[in-house]
Amino acid sequence: MTAHYQVHGDIAVITLDNPPVNGLGLATRVAVAAGMAQAQADARVQAIVITGAGKAFSGGADITEFGSPKAFQEPNLHSLVALLDNSSKPVIAALHSVAMGGGLELALGCHYRIAAPGTSVALPEVKLGLIPGAGGTQRLPRALGVEPALNMIVSGEAIPSERLAVLPGQRLFDKLAASKDSLLEEALALAGSVAAVRPLPRVRDWPAKHPQGDAYFQFARNMVKGMSRNFPAPAKCVDAVEIATQKKFDEGMAAEREIFVNLMWTSESRALRHLFLAERAASKIPDVPADTPQRAVKAVAVIGAGTMGGGIAMNFLNAGIPVKLLELKQEALDRGIATMRKNYESQVKKGKLKADKYEQRMALLSTTLRYDDLKDADLVIEAVFEELGVKEAVFKELDRVMKPGAILASNTSTLDLNAIAAFTQRPQDVVGLHFFSPANIMKLLEVVRGKHTARDVMATVMAVAKKIKKTAVVSGVCDGFIGNRMIEQYGRQAGFLLDEGCTPAQVDRAVERFGMAMGPFRMSDLAGNDISWAIRKRRYVERPGMKYSKTADLLCEKDRFGQKTGAGWYDYVPGKREAIPNAEVVAMVEAHRAALGITPRKIADEEIVQRLVLSLVNEAAHLLEEGIANKAGDIDIVYLFGYGFPPHRGGPLQYADELGLFNVVQAMQRFALNPLDDASFWQPAPLLQRLVADGKTFGP
Ligand SMILES: NC(=O)c1ccc[n+]([C@@H]2O[C@H](COP(=O)([O-])OP(=O)(O)OC[C@H]3O[C@@H](n4cnc5c(N)ncnc54)[C@H](O)[C@@H]3O)[C@@H](O)[C@H]2O)c1
Repeated sequence: MTAHYQVHGDIAVITLDNPPVNGLGLATRVAVAAGMAQAQADARVQAIVITGAGKAFSGGADITEFGSPKAFQEPNLHSLVALLDNSSKPVIAALHSVAMGGGLELALGCHYRIAAPGTSVALPEVKLGLIPGAGGTQRLPRALGVEPALNMIVSGEAIPSERLAVLPGQRLFDKLAASKDSLLEEALALAGSVAAVRPLPRVRDWPAKHPQGDAYFQFARNMVKGMSRNFPAPAKCVDAVEIATQKKFDEGMAAEREIFVNLMWTSESRALRHLFLAERAASKIPDVPADTPQRAVKAVAVIGAGTMGGGIAMNFLNAGIPVKLLELKQEALDRGIATMRKNYESQVKKGKLKADKYEQRMALLSTTLRYDDLKDADLVIEAVFEELGVKEAVFKELDRVMKPGAILASNTSTLDLNAIAAFTQRPQDVVGLHFFSPANIMKLLEVVRGKHTARDVMATVMAVAKKIKKTAVVSGVCDGFIGNRMIEQYGRQAGFLLDEGCTPAQVDRAVERFGMAMGPFRMSDLAGNDISWAIRKRRYVERPGMKYSKTADLLCEKDRFGQKTGAGWYDYVPGKREAIPNAEVVAMVEAHRAALGITPRKIADEEIVQRLVLSLVNEAAHLLEEGIANKAGDIDIVYLFGYGFPPHRGGPLQYADELGLFNVVQAMQRFALNPLDDASFWQPAPLLQRLVADGKTFGP
């Protein structure tokens, strides 16, 4: 059963029990409705308390039901809330821990509400590209006041119950319980005290008024427009709340319903729902069940205090885990620590970190020049130069000193993790932890699973990732793993576009309008053009047949390495990130084009975007086919958190599904006819062809 029914004296208690967060899927709704029927029928029962077992009152609707008939199946959430509202016996919601979305809407249908302090209260639907759909936009303004309600609905942010309980004029909570432990007892007492009250107070009967309604909603619209250009939902939240102040309750409910259903069918909402589920699913590995034992990780070591090592160390310090940092020379340690301190100090200056917290974190850091000092670490992460020989020396040392069972991780971006594992006598303990730069900021972590990586090592590092607040995605071993292997194709297309007639600024502008945080040339300037140059040089040897534009090499020959040298595809003023187009670079591109005998053509933004994004899609399809990536959603999460792919598009594969895979394949076949492009790359991956033939999508 997903909800239990009990009677305490003359009060019935319905307890939602659908772990982990008492989601209001069909089975739970049926169980609550059954409890309500039982309570109505039982003459002894004078009042009804609804509460939640375990870690939540309720986290809300079951979003896997969205877009499926189950969401509408009776009793749907609407009917259930109406059932409470219309109960002839008082219904008291007893909230604790989490009361979100449909959970809060359910509580708003009750006659009284009591909350434990620290309850996270939210209507987060806007984060899924929706508005609350079970009366939240009509009832919350009536219970809480128009402005605080709109703020909650438009932001989707959670607010603790004790902060809401002190808002002037609020009627959301009739009482704040002393604690979660005493909540049920206090709810029963409240129920007893109101058992005879008639008529019953109903939120729907209360007014929702704003003294300067027109001006306020105009202001709210302007604010929202500035903040959410790619999303329709926030503006619709304003519309719905305004309707609550203008129309009768039932008309408002009908309007909310219509807006909700229309938003449900937008590509933006589909994209956000896909990403929401994909992020949660990313931590699940098909052959590593949730009950796989984990190794304890209480102390961490990091090798190399360069760009990555320092940032990696900071993640663990932030989570309260001690770190020992090893370098070759004291000067390198000093430099690395100075950078870490600078990062922390800038956070302190911005008010994001308290000074005493900063010192506490640094106190967890120790340094060494000797491998023997690392022997007690449970996890060691190597972030030294990207050369196999250097990695070999490091892993042989680690194999010598680390205690049995310690996890040995490499942050390599491109090297063969299986080869690195083979430098040790314990390949089962070796795993890739590929952080993204800046490692203390970027949310993405690619966990690279080697041929021999043990299951408990995988389970452990996925849990560690969560602890340090990263979103981890599992990748198999290949050159570039998921993210960088795809970005290579994207970079190649960007190069061909220059050869055919574009300027770097035109390419960047087109994909930035599409929504990418940064175009390929600005991104390369940020990452360092020398880094991709080194990788290309290796690939020229390893894959001699692969076609590349030479413009990026010509740029590097001029030492234009990007932001760090003040000059790359663009110019940069010290201390600023603004990319200023450079006439010499444009002339260099033109000269190279002329030398190749190419007559430039005007390329539409649409072609630019399609070639860049579909290059990601085709490579992703190969990754899925090869089993490097487990599922489409994992790839989309990599691009969302690692490469600035626009959330309203849902990731490259969700975007391809939206375009329609038939159209995707047609476009690829068209691109293959372009003699200046790489026809062999544009052969649609076999997986894509199969999906089209079977009428399927990449899916979740
Ligand atoms: N920079 C990035 O954006 C990025 C992103 C992801 C992964 N990576 C990977 O992270 C690793 C480190 O890259 P980085 O950018 O931090 O390099 P970096 O040059 O900034 O730092 C490397 C550090 O390792 C130290 N080092 C070298 N050999 C050592 C050894 N034998 N023992 C101890 N310390 C040693 C160096 O003194 C230097 O401080 C590479 O494998 C790289 O591919 C880099």
